[in-house]
Amino acid sequence: MKRSVIKSTGRYLPSRRVTNEELTKSLDTSNEWIVQRTGIEARYWVGEGEDVGTSDLAYEAAIIALERANWHPEELDLIVFATMTPDLNVPGSGVFLQNLLGAKRVPAIDIRQQCTGFLHGLEICDAYIRSEKAQKILLVGAEFQSRYLELTTENRDTAVIFADGAGAVCIEAVETNDEIGVITSILHADGKYSRALHVGLPARKSGHVISPNVIENGEHFPYMDGKTVFKLAVTRLPRVADELLAKANMKIEDLDMVIPHQANLRINDAFGERMKIPKEKMYNNIQRYGNTTAATIPIALDELMEKNMLKSKDTIMLIGLGAGLTWGGVIYKLM
Ligand code: UT7
Repeated sequence: MKRSVIKSTGRYLPSRRVTNEELTKSLDTSNEWIVQRTGIEARYWVGEGEDVGTSDLAYEAAIIALERANWHPEELDLIVFATMTPDLNVPGSGVFLQNLLGAKRVPAIDIRQQCTGFLHGLEICDAYIRSEKAQKILLVGAEFQSRYLELTTENRDTAVIFADGAGAVCIEAVETNDEIGVITSILHADGKYSRALHVGLPARKSGHVISPNVIENGEHFPYMDGKTVFKLAVTRLPRVADELLAKANMKIEDLDMVIPHQANLRINDAFGERMKIPKEKMYNNIQRYGNTTAATIPIALDELMEKNMLKSKDTIMLIGLGAGLTWGGVIYKLM
């Protein structure tokens, strides 16, 4: 039986570190508010005027992962690119990355599932591998949020949270009867909450098409009803975690590490408490990186690998919720 195994990881953060203190120069906010309400102490943003796009960030993470896997880009069967901040509206960023890598003729698909983009990517890669359509896949989550943010007090809720960065994994098909690799995954969506976190432009829906009026209204910047998303996160994440454990026939104690999406430290603390997960088994890095949307989970995974915080046969849960509303998780066992 074919199993999807993460052979290597890589991450990239732009060099410009932006502290909370720096944001207080543009917005009415404070370090205390941001730390207390979100856990974030600093984040990385692409430097102003730097001529890069989301695919350039993805490329930096991807070449690290590919080198560690000892794979040449042309060996890939598929590139999967998760982002909500693509280089262009059309085409998706996957083809930009494919070209940068010189991965000639390798198919590239984009996933526009925001905070759960990487989780959707893992499930898609696993389906390709189990159905023997692919042997070697590069999956990236990358975001260039800073250029989409409005640094005004009115939009301070999104401005202080979102950040830039990229994480990549090389996923390989391994023939085995062992329970390793992607054990199970569950994804959910609830379009009723599609407006709770959205970016209005570019759009094709009447009333939203690009015009001076909608630009004036700032509809090209993200809108977030933070309270609603927060409440949905603290109720739905534990529910899907229970579903995942039941599907995998596991108990919470069987997990060696939980890597939640990094949207807000308070959400992750509430989730951890509700699930009775010991603090040392919950990995958070939002303090240093902010919310890099589709990149949070692969960046965290790469850090854990680098710090040797995961060992052979460890079982981990990756879990998240975000715009859509979409939410879900993956249980994964290391080789
Ligand atoms: O990854 C994508 C999914 N997104 C999420 O999961 C985000 C979930 N939501 C959140 O993380 C939180 O709702 C926020 C961090 C966005 C906001 O925290 P909150 O505790 O829900 O604050 P709030 O929106 O209820 O606002 C409380 C107060 C308001 O002032 P008043 O009306 O009480 O005077 C806001 O205007 O805090 C104010 N406020 C700020 N103050 C200083 C909002 N943002 C800021 C800010 N600095 N950056």
